[in-house]
Amino acid sequence: MKNLHEAEVASRFDAQRRRFKSAVADDDYRLLGLLDAVGPVRGLTILDLGCGKGRFARALRRRGAAVIGVDIAAAMLAEATGVPRARASSRRLPFRDASFDAVIAVEAVEHMDPAGCEATLREARRVLRPGGRLAIVDKNVAALSARRPWLPSVAEKRIDELRGRWMYPAWGPVRERWFWPSRLRRALERRFERVDVRRLLSPAERERWLFRRLPAARLMTLWVAEAPGGRNVQ
Ligand SMILES: C[S@@+](CC[C@H](N)C(=O)[O-])C[C@H]1O[C@@H](n2cnc3c(N)ncnc32)[C@H](O)[C@@H]1O
Repeated sequence: MKNLHEAEVASRFDAQRRRFKSAVADDDYRLLGLLDAVGPVRGLTILDLGCGKGRFARALRRRGAAVIGVDIAAAMLAEATGVPRARASSRRLPFRDASFDAVIAVEAVEHMDPAGCEATLREARRVLRPGGRLAIVDKNVAALSARRPWLPSVAEKRIDELRGRWMYPAWGPVRERWFWPSRLRRALERRFERVDVRRLLSPAERERWLFRRLPAARLMTLWVAEAPGGRNVQ
């Protein structure tokens, strides 16, 4: 059963599903980051949390992985064609312990409340096999805007919220939560091993010296964490 926060998130995604892309390019910087984090995916079983229209799940399937997507938004999920999928919350996953080699979540955790985020990390750890990797791509709260590098990205988002251009209204019950990279790293370290934070460089950021030289100013961040008990554990 969905909680109120998730009900609001699901209804906003379903209502605004046309805003979201259904495909991802083979050289997409987030996809390349995920592939680097997970390693060769052929033959792996991967869970995509908050898969939306399934664009990353399909990209991983094209590379030979068996991918299952879950999402709380029915209309988004309906467009995730070509991917085995289930309508479910990442807080309570309908899968057995240790049933996945990797779990990914792209721009999904930022839509969860703190309790949902905590439960999601717990569930990701539960369904990962020992040594399996969790890869989260989300936004860095300390980023600068790629279009206007004198402006923090969160300020740009706030302006959009106030103008009614963001997917959640300025004074609504749900806000997108961006992360301090070190804070999410610490949350991961409570459950996982070898947590790594990687700053992804978007095409727009690549155009500017500032972002090439100052990774901490980049928006998209990749957190990679390993479930305990893997072969590499010293
Ligand atoms: C911005 S979309 C990203 C979709 C997809 N990962 C992509 O990058 O194309 C975020 C998705 O996360 C889903 N979501 C948010 N909270 C969730 C939760 N607790 N469990 C499952 N899905 C969730 C939303 O319904 C939405 O489809």
